[in-house]
Amino acid sequence: MQENTFNFFKNEKKIDDKMILITGGAGFIGSNFIRFMRNKYPNYKIINFDKLTYAGNLNNVSLMEDNPDYVFMKGDVANQKDVKNVFEEFNPDYVIHFAAESHVDRSILNPDVFLQTNIIGTQYLLNFSRLNNVKKFIFISTDEVYGSIDKDHCTEESPICPNNYYSVSKAAADNLVKVSYQTHGQRINIVRCCNNYGQFQFPEKFIPLMISNAINNKDLPIYGDGNYFRDWLHVDDNCRAIDLVLHKGRIGEIYNVGGNNEWRNIDLAEYLLELIGKPKSLLSYIMDRPSHDYRYAVNFNKIRSELCWHPLIDFKIGIKQTVDWYLSHQDWLNEIISGEYLKYYDLNYKNRDAQE
Ligand code: NAD
Ligand code: DAU
Repeated sequence: MQENTFNFFKNEKKIDDKMILITGGAGFIGSNFIRFMRNKYPNYKIINFDKLTYAGNLNNVSLMEDNPDYVFMKGDVANQKDVKNVFEEFNPDYVIHFAAESHVDRSILNPDVFLQTNIIGTQYLLNFSRLNNVKKFIFISTDEVYGSIDKDHCTEESPICPNNYYSVSKAAADNLVKVSYQTHGQRINIVRCCNNYGQFQFPEKFIPLMISNAINNKDLPIYGDGNYFRDWLHVDDNCRAIDLVLHKGRIGEIYNVGGNNEWRNIDLAEYLLELIGKPKSLLSYIMDRPSHDYRYAVNFNKIRSELCWHPLIDFKIGIKQTVDWYLSHQDWLNEIISGEYLKYYDLNYKNRDAQE
C-alpha cells in the first residue's frame, strides 16, 4: 500500500504540482494544516514526516489515509539518515517544519530531547533542503522566543530573549534558519505565532487539559495565582497565515502571527467551566511553573499589511466549537489519557500543592 503510494508520487507528478514535505504532521497544528491544504489545494502532494512521539497520533490524520496524493513516512528529524531518506525518496519542492518537542513543562522535566529535536533536527532539515534546492523552507517558530513582556507588543525586530528550555531550543533553531539565509541565501521564512487552540490539541496544553479534566470531574490545575496572560488564536487562522507565507511571503522574512485576544489564565479556566457546565470548585491553585513567562504578545502589522492576514475566527465562537469537539470526541481523548500520559501527569502535577 505504502509502496504503491510512493510510486504514484514519483510517476505522476505534473509540472505545476507542488510536493510539500510537512514535518510533525501527526501533531496538533501539523494535522490541522494538512487537512487545510488538502481542502484548498487538492492537487498538491503531501508527505507527512513524523517520528510519532507521545504527541504524534495518526488518528489526527485518519481522513487522509486513502488519499493517493498523501503519504506518511515515519522518521526522526534529528536522525540524519531518516532525513536523507525522505529527501531522496520524494525530492520535495517545499518544506514546512512543524515537528518539535512543544511542551514547556516537559522541557523542564527533560530538556535534552528538546535540544536534539528542535535544534539539531532543524539544522539537518536545513542542510538537506539546501542540497536539494528546496524552493522554500518555512520554520514554524513561536512568540515565546521573545520572552515575557509586561506591556506593549513585540515586533519582528524585538530582541530574542527566551526563558525556558523549550523556548531556548526554538530560539536557537529560529536563529539557525535566519543564519542559513544570511550565509547561503537559503530560501526561508519564519513564522512566530501565539498560542493556538482547536481540535486535536494534545491534552497537556492549557485549553484541552482544562476541558479534559472538567469533563472527567478532575481538578483544573492553575499555576501560581493564575494571573498570567496568553494570546489565543484558532488553529485554522494560523493555517491560513502559513498558507499565505508559503505562497506570498518574501524570501528571508520573519512574520509574527497574533490573535489580538489576550486572556488571563484564571479567567479562561472559569469561562471553560461555564461552557462545560461544571462548578468553579474544580479550580485548584498549585505551585507555579518555574521561570513562568508572565505574558506574550506580538505585533502582527507586518503580515497584516504585506499579506492581508488577520484573525477571522471570533474567540467565543471558536472556543465553543472546540469544547463541543472535545465533548463529542471523548474516544480520541480517552485513548490518550492513559499509560504514558498518566505517568507524565503524575510527574508534573503530584506533590505540587500551592505553598501557604
Ligand atoms: P505537537 O506537540 O502537537 O506536535 C508535534 C509533532 O512533532 C508530533 O506529531 C510529534 O510526533 C512530532 N515530532 C516530535 N519530535 C519529532 C522528531 N524528532 N522527528 C519527527 N517528528 C517529531 O506540537 P504543535 O502544538 O502542533 O506545534 C507544532 C509546531 O508549532 C511546533 O514547532 C511548535 O513549536 C510550534 N508552535 C506551537 C504553538 C501552539 O500553541 N501549539 C504556538 C506557536 C508555535
Ligand atoms: O506562545 C506559543 C507557545 O504556546 C507555543 O510555542 C508552545 O508550543 C505551546 O505549548 C504554548 O506554550 P505555553 O506555555 O504558553 O502553553 P501552555 O498551554 O503550557 O500554558 C498556557 C498557560 O497556562 C501558561 O501560562 C501556563 C498555564 N498553565 C498551563 C498548564 C498546562 C496552567 O496554569 N496550568 C496547567 O496545567
